[in-house]
Amino acid sequence: MSATLGKLIGLGTGPGNPELLTLKAARYLAEADVVAYFAKRGAKGNARTIVDTHIRPGVIELPMIYPVTTEIHKDHTDYINPINNFYEDIARQVEDHLRAGHTVVVLSEGDPLFYGSYMHLHVRLAHRFPTEVVPGVTAMSGCWSATGVPIVQGDDILSILPGTLSEDVLARRLMDTDAAVIMKVGRNLPKIRRALAAAGKLERAIYVERGTMANMAITPLADKADDVAPYFSIVLVPGWAAKPGENLAAALQMAEGLA
Ligand SMILES: C[S@@+](CC[C@H](N)C(=O)[O-])C[C@H]1O[C@@H](n2cnc3c(N)ncnc32)[C@H](O)[C@@H]1O
Repeated sequence: MSATLGKLIGLGTGPGNPELLTLKAARYLAEADVVAYFAKRGAKGNARTIVDTHIRPGVIELPMIYPVTTEIHKDHTDYINPINNFYEDIARQVEDHLRAGHTVVVLSEGDPLFYGSYMHLHVRLAHRFPTEVVPGVTAMSGCWSATGVPIVQGDDILSILPGTLSEDVLARRLMDTDAAVIMKVGRNLPKIRRALAAAGKLERAIYVERGTMANMAITPLADKADDVAPYFSIVLVPGWAAKPGENLAAALQMAEGLA
């Protein structure tokens, strides 16, 4: 007789502040047999850090350590081959737990189905095992709430752009939108800055690093003197209905209050 299959849970942890974890996420963490999470070699990973106080003693932890980092271009075979093998391998490991009847929670920083690595497991397993996705507060939502700047109002159109896009695509998309969120900033910041300037939106842009975390920093992008940005950074461009001067002043005041 075949054993009852375990359940796969893609669990959003929110953007950094542990208090932004949902009640449902906390309950599933308390009930999990296995907690799996992505991390870089030698690091604990943001998602795992966020849920620190919710890890049940005795739970099986399954760190999923990326074999390559973004040092190699994502379109290069030296990146594609190892990363695909990695996703296949961890999907097999999670599958073994599910076949053993374990409930496997896969942590995902922010929301799992919004640029989350969890998706690589989801597409391989969700059609074969009972699966549930627990939504999380996205990084962009955490960041614009931290700034206190309304991001879109009325009929504003919001575009979400990965900073990894080429400069001309970024500039074109920025010209053609009212408001924007630029993700994956990091080393792309100089290019993002140029694209915003070309689109006439640099003056409105707000840079947020480590949003909602203890060491969060918020600054108008035009005032940021260097182009150094960590992985956990985002650029917000509020919609045309917002008043840039007032909004940036409010953002800075809030940031000071939170620091
Ligand atoms: C792979 S995406 C993950 C997005 C996540 N699943 C979400 O729902 O927001 C990673 C990017 O999200 C942004 N990000 C995530 N957490 C952040 C934070 N706390 N502060 C600023 N940006 C953050 C950064 O742009 C980072 O490069």
